[in-house]
Amino acid sequence: MRIIRTIAEVRDVVREAKHRGTSVGLVPTMGALHEGHLSLVRRAREQNDLVVVSLFVNPTQFGANEDLGAYPRDEARDACLAEAEGVDILFAPPVDEIYPDGFATTIHVAGVTEVLDGASRGTHHFDGVATVVTKLFGIVRPDVAYFGQKDAQQVLVVRRVVRDLDLDVRIEACPIVREADGLAMSSRNVYLDVAAREQATALNRALDAASARHRAGEREGEQILEAARAVLDDAGIHPDYLELRDAETLAPVARVEGDALLAVAARVGAARLIDNHILRGDA
Ligand code: PAF
Repeated sequence: MRIIRTIAEVRDVVREAKHRGTSVGLVPTMGALHEGHLSLVRRAREQNDLVVVSLFVNPTQFGANEDLGAYPRDEARDACLAEAEGVDILFAPPVDEIYPDGFATTIHVAGVTEVLDGASRGTHHFDGVATVVTKLFGIVRPDVAYFGQKDAQQVLVVRRVVRDLDLDVRIEACPIVREADGLAMSSRNVYLDVAAREQATALNRALDAASARHRAGEREGEQILEAARAVLDDAGIHPDYLELRDAETLAPVARVEGDALLAVAARVGAARLIDNHILRGDA
């Protein structure tokens, strides 16, 4: 595995590989790799000749009061994990390689960025994501890029960018990977102390309760949300949001008829966590 720090070098390597007809898969990450990331890497490895993992803690997607400074960083560990999965290139640029002096462009997606995490954290979060992901696509020019479904709204934002800007890349969303007790894997889980770690299991239990009510035939959004709310209340969790939205457009859903995204975000101990289930229209 090569660790590359400059745009020019990663471009050269990928360009040369593409001349030989090589397919390229990109897994964009902010490091602190866990099984969720590794599942994306494995998928990329299955489907592509050349696998590039980017490791870049993107400052523009963090708000002023968020955890940019504290975000877990351990490049040596990430490099070992990536190498063990057969990654070919770890692209780990410094901040000024991605955002040199005078950098002045922001990709802003309207609509799907304005609700859920966009309302709770601010749309600047998705501006930062859309901008850095568009740059990574321009730098690496992957055939396929892999994202985790845990960040369901991020997936929709990236798909919107690709569609609207006619970018020649296929976006593959991979299933959420969970701990044995159901907690969705996240780099931010390291912020949880023992009590918060236990409390955090209520997020998926709440989504499970709501999904079960939907599977039992309930279609009224409020009734479905109520099942989740009861579990969160019981665990003493006051969510930033707990909402049902159309799985494609993120329009609010009062009655679940088609596929719906049931999404939750909450501060648990020192971590702000997100999780979601898709309620299938045909369930
Ligand atoms: O999901 C993440 O880790 C980040 O938002 C991403 C896609 C790597 C962009 O910085």
